Amino acid sequence: MPRKKVSIIGAGQVGATAAYYIAEKIIADIVMVDINEGLTRAKALDFLHAGPMRRYDVLIEGTDDYSRIEESAVVVITAGVPRKPGMDRMDLLKVNAGIVKTASENIGTYAPNATVIVVSNPLDVMCHVAFRTTGFAVRRVIGMAGILDSTRFRYFVAEELGCAPSDVHAMVLGGHGDQMVPLPRFTTVAGIPIPQLLNPQTIERLVDRTRNGGAEIVAHLKTGSAYFAPAASVAEMVEAIVTDRKALAPCAAFLRGEYGIENLFIGVPVLLGKNGIERILELELDESEMLLLQKSAEAVGKGVRELDTFFRLN
Ligand code: LAC
Repeated sequence: MPRKKVSIIGAGQVGATAAYYIAEKIIADIVMVDINEGLTRAKALDFLHAGPMRRYDVLIEGTDDYSRIEESAVVVITAGVPRKPGMDRMDLLKVNAGIVKTASENIGTYAPNATVIVVSNPLDVMCHVAFRTTGFAVRRVIGMAGILDSTRFRYFVAEELGCAPSDVHAMVLGGHGDQMVPLPRFTTVAGIPIPQLLNPQTIERLVDRTRNGGAEIVAHLKTGSAYFAPAASVAEMVEAIVTDRKALAPCAAFLRGEYGIENLFIGVPVLLGKNGIERILELELDESEMLLLQKSAEAVGKGVRELDTFFRLN
């Protein structure tokens, strides 16, 4: 079977690092599209040069020509501006909406059968831009972020307990913003829910650190945002789709009544496979968890309403 093709729009830190993880795992051939042609060509060549030592032989192409994304199984949109210290992800809405719209128009033209993974912030709102612009089926537009927020929670729990990070599984739902909803009841170490292993104050501290995980890195970096963990999250999603793994993970999905939420992209547990989102899973949340999810949905909804103004003007 020929190797599948994955295209990444934006060859910046997240895009290029995602390409790196995908190449290392020999998941797919890769095309990186960037308006900065020199940058994307240089990074693609540099990757190819490392192949003999790292033992991958995937094709990697860097280009500014969107037509090269033809026949991609997955297209990842990472293009956009990252936040600076003190900025909220929503502060990026207007400038990134234009960038994501252009990328989506080209995906609609050149890769009409692809599944789209949206990474640009504010993530959940940008999913609406990709969905409205491409006109793709709802299950083929997916936002990356729940996986990222969950991996941060997993790491913090592992660090606290001194256990293997890969033994920890976590669920973080809601929008990828300050109101995200880490769920301790659904976060386990080898099947043991963390409320059995950690006291409530410690869990609250880890939940808080998870909510601010991205901002903690922005504060250190000053000129950009995180990229290793975001890129690893992209690679996980791409692998699940390309290999039809039916992986269960939280991702931003378009809800039509699930969790009592209508017509909104927001992070919920889904199964990822060759058709994109194969299924949305509805957890039985308690009252306080549901309330937090509703608050998070309100914050995303506010961004989506701002988007309506953007679409009227553009
Ligand atoms: C973060 C940014 C990428 O959470 O949203 O690191």
